[in-house]
Amino acid sequence: MISAPAEQWIVEQARAGRKPTEIGRSVGLSRHQVRRILAKQRQEPIGMPPTLRLIGGSRTLSDTARKKLIEVQSQQNAELTEEFVGPGLYPSPGDTVWLRRGLYRGSPTLHPILFVPDAHIPYHHVPSWNLMIRAAQDLKPHTICVIGDLADFFGVSDHLKDPRRARRLEDEVAQVNAALDELDALGAVRKIFIEGNHEDRLKRYLEAKAPELFGFVDVPSLFNLRERGWEHVPYHEYTRIGKLFVTHDVGAAGKYAVYQTLATYEHSIVTGHTHRLAYIVEGNAVGEYKVATQFGWLGDVDQVDYLHRAKAKKDWALGFGVGRLDPATGYVYLSPVPIVNGTCVVEGQLYTTTKAAA
Ligand SMILES: [Fe+2]
Ligand SMILES: [Fe+2]
Repeated sequence: MISAPAEQWIVEQARAGRKPTEIGRSVGLSRHQVRRILAKQRQEPIGMPPTLRLIGGSRTLSDTARKKLIEVQSQQNAELTEEFVGPGLYPSPGDTVWLRRGLYRGSPTLHPILFVPDAHIPYHHVPSWNLMIRAAQDLKPHTICVIGDLADFFGVSDHLKDPRRARRLEDEVAQVNAALDELDALGAVRKIFIEGNHEDRLKRYLEAKAPELFGFVDVPSLFNLRERGWEHVPYHEYTRIGKLFVTHDVGAAGKYAVYQTLATYEHSIVTGHTHRLAYIVEGNAVGEYKVATQFGWLGDVDQVDYLHRAKAKKDWALGFGVGRLDPATGYVYLSPVPIVNGTCVVEGQLYTTTKAAA
């Protein structure tokens, strides 16, 4: 009798192109036994037979489709989120939506997710950024989520500006667009751009100094988000990936922000903003567990001008995040990836800044 996680592993290995004989050797099974497991997995649908067929051509759920999902969900008492659609997260016309009833047996496919924390481009830490891109090329993310403060927007900051640091907004925007080009090249199915307080600087600048241009110049248009196929989440709002919430911040900073965030949401949540790396899990009396995570940042601490550098070096951590979404349950399994001395490990693979640059 082989465990469900071992079966899952076998399926993943087969998908990665390994032969049954080779896989069998790793887990002490014959190639016939491996083939039987693979055949069984192929026959098992993610859930029960289809109960709803979506009509419509948009990549995101239409309001009608969402309403229908909620209706069916309540009728059948199914555990269902709007992300719980198959075979991808977003249905195409005629795609079947699978509802789950009864005991969940595990989805054959977990979707890899890349979380891009505060990079503060153009003041980003270039070797670490390149390291993340290199690791992401292997991860092949299904979903990319920018958690906010991808751009620094120093040019429109209302703080007093050090003239030695002066940059034209045009240059900053060009560098952020170049970074988005790199993320686009990863080929993700879903791309989410969450604004942070630094992206919000643009809105505040326009409100204060050029209200006539309000709505004419904004973050989505400067970064061509619509053309690139990114979902845009304004500052102070959140999005969801499966059952996970993601937002830039909830107004908390410092060491305990991660606890305050969990207390605010009372759901599993990823945030940026603090530039710290933290991972906490809390339960309650009925055994429900939630995770709150912050994945550090990708900025260059030597270019920080708004905090004492020694404090920034002590508290902030270079890093990013990866996750795996189980589309059948909506659970997202999160892994912070700290970058230590120019190295990191993603899904068992070691990456170094020297390799990343090569
Ligand atoms: Fe930040
Ligand atoms: Fe922030």
